[in-house]
Amino acid sequence: MTPWWKKAVVYQVYPRSFQDSNGDGIGDLKGITSRLDYLEKLGIDAIWLSPVYQSPGVDNGYDISDYEAIDPQYGTMADMEELIAEAKKHHIRIVMDLVVNHTSDQHQWFIEAKKSKDNPYRDYYVWRNPVDGHEPNDLKSAFSGSAWKYDETTGQYYLHLFADAQPDLNWENPELRQKVYDMMNFWIDKGIGGFRMDVIELIGKEPDKGITANGPMLHPYLQEMNHATFGGKDLMTVGETWGATIPIAKEYSDPDRDELSMVFQFENQGLDQQPGKAKWDLRKLDLGELKQVLVKWQTELDFNHAWNSIFWENHDIPRVISRWGNDKEYRVQSAKMFAIALHLMHGTPYIYNGEEIGMTNYPVKDISEVSDIESVNMYHERVAEGYDPKELIKAINTKGRDNARTPMQWTAGKEAGFTTGTPWLHVNPNHVEINVDQALADPNSIFYTYQTLVKLRHEHVIVVDGDFELIPTQDEILAYYRVLGDEKWLVVANFSEQEQKLSLTDKIAKTLVYNYEAPTKLSALTLKPYEAFAVVVK
Ligand code: GLC
Ligand code: CA
Repeated sequence: MTPWWKKAVVYQVYPRSFQDSNGDGIGDLKGITSRLDYLEKLGIDAIWLSPVYQSPGVDNGYDISDYEAIDPQYGTMADMEELIAEAKKHHIRIVMDLVVNHTSDQHQWFIEAKKSKDNPYRDYYVWRNPVDGHEPNDLKSAFSGSAWKYDETTGQYYLHLFADAQPDLNWENPELRQKVYDMMNFWIDKGIGGFRMDVIELIGKEPDKGITANGPMLHPYLQEMNHATFGGKDLMTVGETWGATIPIAKEYSDPDRDELSMVFQFENQGLDQQPGKAKWDLRKLDLGELKQVLVKWQTELDFNHAWNSIFWENHDIPRVISRWGNDKEYRVQSAKMFAIALHLMHGTPYIYNGEEIGMTNYPVKDISEVSDIESVNMYHERVAEGYDPKELIKAINTKGRDNARTPMQWTAGKEAGFTTGTPWLHVNPNHVEINVDQALADPNSIFYTYQTLVKLRHEHVIVVDGDFELIPTQDEILAYYRVLGDEKWLVVANFSEQEQKLSLTDKIAKTLVYNYEAPTKLSALTLKPYEAFAVVVK
């Protein structure tokens, strides 16, 4: 039997920015529950909920101080249980974010571990002696600077691949692993739909050898986790795996290996940065390269023995129409084009909150307006190294994580209907035009294109199981067939702002979805800027 998550569309909610229910300017669980009717209307099957656990909030909840408690900012455990129960009534499962590469430095385990070298929790974390009075090696934190922080009390360094307030857990310790599995079972018992696993590729690290992602113990740990927790249950698991290649993605998701349902792979993320440099070192996207990556993940992964996710956005990457489309004169067309091109591919699609109404990046003028720890640390590090602050702000406006974290735009009114108070992060002023009220009232809105695409997946097995066949064309166009038995669908998408010529010999049997006019023929086509459509062909 096909597991539910192969036919599902997942919607990511960034709780802090989704809906505030009590006027403190921070989105919360009651807010999410109040918007379930909207999500049911969109048609999604599951919510991936970014972390709502108890947290000091150094990295917006990805620094957890108690895995079995809800942060008071977001509500209570009763609110969480209510969300799970109410979502179920709306046919929506709740997928929790599992952040177990590291904890907060305020987690009780770390508070204990820091006390002394012989504390029972010491070995839950990664400690090393200084080498020649310095850091044990030159491992870097993803949030700038060394990945090692000196602890005065015990005279050792601890490892943090993210902020120094996010100490890495020591997965070599079996007792720690068991604690993690117990915690996962605590959540499974609450009736959740599964887990999204934060930077899970790092848990098999060998820091002394400089190995972080894809360490030798990664897959054995995942198999152990699978058997101790979600294995054999009707749950979905998706690993965040920045370094996944096709063979690695197969290892994670081959059902015979008892690991995960699928992964997020990020190969397209490097395409607009300079090779070998950081994401901030910008380079113009080459459409041919983007197409190549998209096609590779459709054709080279064997979906009979592996599975994958498909997505454009999440809380760590900018809004796709601002990045690779046109968020001004072709905002609506390019948003629909990205949706049509992606959602009819093979794999489980994810929609990031606000993507379905075409929300855009929000440029800042000054670093004081930036909240995200990654951008702020990078800015200060690079300013000290002599970079031009103007160029750094430009890079933050292009790639920074705040772009996708501005509050959800529900209405044209005050603070976009997100809060009655002062929002934690600026609301994009374009909410007067771009908002859910507008989208629901306009039958031609981006929202209804997404709704149509979700429905097509639910109603037609070909979208779930059909083979993907690329049609050779110029780089600006992505054109493919999905084929199942004697059924054949054609998807055409112009990724450029220029008109494109295309001529195919198929005949249209039925029109499925489009972003300008319904196509009437397939020969001698002139595709408009960002034009896209899907049809059944014969
Ligand atoms: C993942 C999260 C990101 C977080 C990091 C550290 O990449 O998606 O938001 O900062 O892990 O937990
Ligand atoms: Ca609130």
